[in-house]
Amino acid sequence: MRIVLLGAPGSGKGTQCKNIVEQYSLLHLSSGDILRRERAAKSDLGKKAQSYMDSGALVPDDLIIKMMAKAISKAPKEGFILDGFPRTVNQAKELDKSMADAGQKIDFVLNLEVDDGIIEKRITGRRSCPKCGAVYHIENMKPKKDGVCDNDGTSLVQRPDDTSEVVANRLNTYHQQTEPLVDYYKKNGDVYDIRSDRDPEIVKADIFELLDSPA
Ligand code: AP5
Repeated sequence: MRIVLLGAPGSGKGTQCKNIVEQYSLLHLSSGDILRRERAAKSDLGKKAQSYMDSGALVPDDLIIKMMAKAISKAPKEGFILDGFPRTVNQAKELDKSMADAGQKIDFVLNLEVDDGIIEKRITGRRSCPKCGAVYHIENMKPKKDGVCDNDGTSLVQRPDDTSEVVANRLNTYHQQTEPLVDYYKKNGDVYDIRSDRDPEIVKADIFELLDSPA
């Protein structure tokens, strides 16, 4: 199964991807996570991406398309879920082309919908584990012990782009450059809109029901 998961910053893409990959044994390919690993490794790509990410702008298409093509080529036969890619119509066209060249297709396009009004609170309250990548929220999804990852006991951190100022830029970028993708996919097939302003367990159940439904 090959899935594209769309949604604004903080809509819950990472949270739901974790559930989906556990249930369906898919590879989770998060463009944001890959970029953060490149930054931590101080690679050329990481250095080039840094200023764009810190300001809430998109990293240029040519860098991202190459990076994701490499990641997708390593996916297992069970498939993958793309989180944060594509993020521009140009990226989506390149993905379609590479899927067609490989004789494959995207099976599901899911779109997590949340109003801007609740996004800032979600993102500024997010804390994540630098070791295993688990995501928490200081109010909505607390770890068992304050500030510490449930999985491995590592101290949780806040992403540098999770400040109020950068969140405003990320939302602008989303509306201008990424939201048009929903129409792009709607013109080419089905897009499943899922309200993600509900309890994460309810969102998860809706997604599983959809993925389990016969084509
Ligand atoms: P990226 O890492 O992809 O960030 P994003 O899209 O802004 O998404 P987030 O990771 O912030 O949010 P999410 O939807 O995963 O939400 P989460 O589940 O964590 O990208 C970062 C940067 O990299 C970009 O700005 C750009 O510069 C660059 N980049 C990446 N991909 C690119 C591309 N393709 N092209 C160009 N540049 C690219 O949830 C958020 C919080 O809410 C958490 O605390 C969580 O616990 C909580 N939460 C989740 N669900 C619920 C719920 N249902 N109810 C209550 N709380 C919830």
